[in-house]
Formats: sequence, structure tokens, C-alpha cells
Amino acid sequence: MKIRKAVIPAAGLGTRVLPASKAMPKEMLSIVDKPAIQYIVEEAARSGIEDILIITSRGKTTVEDHFDRSPELEQRLLAAGKTELYEQMVAISSLANITYVRQKETRGLGHAILCARSFVGNEPFAVLYGDDVILGENPVCRQLCDAYDQYGLGVVGIKEVTPEQIKKYSSMKVEPLSGRQFKITDMVEKPATPEQAFSLYSILGRCVLPPQIFDILESIPYGVGGELQLTDAMKVLAQRETMIGVDFEGRRYDMGSKLGILQAIVEVGLSHPETGSAFREYLKGIAGTL
Ligand code: UTP
Repeated sequence: MKIRKAVIPAAGLGTRVLPASKAMPKEMLSIVDKPAIQYIVEEAARSGIEDILIITSRGKTTVEDHFDRSPELEQRLLAAGKTELYEQMVAISSLANITYVRQKETRGLGHAILCARSFVGNEPFAVLYGDDVILGENPVCRQLCDAYDQYGLGVVGIKEVTPEQIKKYSSMKVEPLSGRQFKITDMVEKPATPEQAFSLYSILGRCVLPPQIFDILESIPYGVGGELQLTDAMKVLAQRETMIGVDFEGRRYDMGSKLGILQAIVEVGLSHPETGSAFREYLKGIAGTL
């Protein structure tokens, strides 16, 4: 079944990037000249997704404004002869059919996904975490949708992380399948000790889930940090019918962390047509002084 719908959870408090995220959603933090969430919506659109639900919360209305038309700005750009910029602005509002729902309390990623139940209905759907920007030729969401097509099982995007990082992420029990694909039979969220971790493979930012995930989310208890954990629901799915892990191709930037934001800005800045060459010279200049 073709994956047509995607959910972008963007209702978190972003405590790791305060004070930047106090009055501005971290998903709206800019990488050079584009907010993080626009890269994510573009990835979904390039993957063939038609309908997107963004989960927002109080103080996040700038996300809706960003994907809306902006008549006054558009008129001003047209009058000034800035046609290319005008077209770029209009194109943002037609990337996909975007709707919004509010998560009224920040009770975890699993709870945010539950808010998407009536939007999703009875079909498989993609999830793109609102603060994980992944760049590359082949959009990661499409890599995962292709694996769903192939196996008809839930799919998670995975990468190996360091032993330090695994404590803060999830850990997957993996068996090689073919190429970049793995069978996943179990998982654990934020393993407290190295013994609790199955491997250094962790879910990073993307998954494709069957609609059964909603019943599972309704039935499991709140987990680590008093939050309803999506990983706990996927664990049930993995144990019940196995899931597929795709060690995806793409460069990931965690826009929910200070270092991730810096890495994204440096790398995108270096390849940006307007800033690339001047920024490269600037970096070469300061690199010698480090
Ligand atoms: P994170 O755990 O990275 O977001 O969730 P957070 O809670 O904002 O992070 P910190 O620890 O306080 O800095 C991954 C994605 O899930 C969304 C976030 O907005 C982020 O895009 N999320 C998280 C929700 O939509 N609702 C929640 O209750 C929690």
C-alpha cells in the first residue's frame, strides 16, 4: 500500500536548546535561510507524501504561518521585481496538504502520535520527527516507504551511535537482512546500563508505522520520564511481528541540540550557492587559529 500520509510531531518543549526555544519553536530554528521544519516537509513531499499532519502546541503558531500564503509580503516582492523570491515564497504553501492538531499537554512522543489517530485512519503512515533534519540525494522518508512496500512491516530509520549516546536514545536488537536492511525483534528506550542495550543501533528521526500502533499506544503504560514513549509501542510491534530497520543514507542534524544546530549551519552554509565560497574562506581563516 502506498504511503500517502505523514505525521510531523513538533509539540515538544525543546528544553535542550533553551532559551532559543522559549518563545520560538525549535522546529522553526533556521539552517542558514530555511527553518528546520521546511527541510522536513520538503523531504516528505519528495518522498511522495500528499497529506501531512503537524502536531503543534501552545506558542507554535509560527509553524502554521510559515506554510500559509503571505499576501502582503508577496505583493511587496512582486512590486519590487523580486519574482524568483516571490515564487519561492508561494511554493512553500503548496508543498503538501498540511493540517494541524494541537497536543494539549506535552506527554511524550507516543502521546503526540496518538493525536494523529483520526487523521491517519486505517492506513500505514510515515513519522518524521520535527527536530531531525536529514539531508541527502535520496530522501530518507522514501527509503523507509520503499522498505514498507517490500516487507509490509513497520520500518524504522536506524544509525549506529556511540556508547555515550545510546543511553539517551533507543537501542535495537538487530539481525542483518540484506544490504542496509535489518530485522528488528526487540528494542529498549534509553538503556540505563550498557547491559540493557541490545546494540548501538538507534532509531533516528524517521519511521513508517501500521495503524495498529494506535491500539498499542492506548494499551501501554507511560514510560521513561513519565512520558508515553513511541519506542515502547514499537517494541510491542517488533516483538509481535518484527519490524524492519533501514540504516539510511543521509546526513542527520539534531536541531534539538546545540551542537546539531551548529553542525547543520556549517555544512549547509558551505554548500549554499549564496554563502558557500565566502563562508569557506572565512572558515579557512579561523581554522588556523583554533
Ligand atoms: P524530543 O524528545 O527530541 O523533543 O522529541 P523535546 O521533548 O522537545 O526535547 P527536550 O529534551 O525538551 O529538548 C522528538 C520530537 O517529538 C516532538 C518534539 O517536538 C520533537 O520534534 N514531541 C516530543 C512532541 O510533539 N510532543 C511531546 O510530548 C514530545
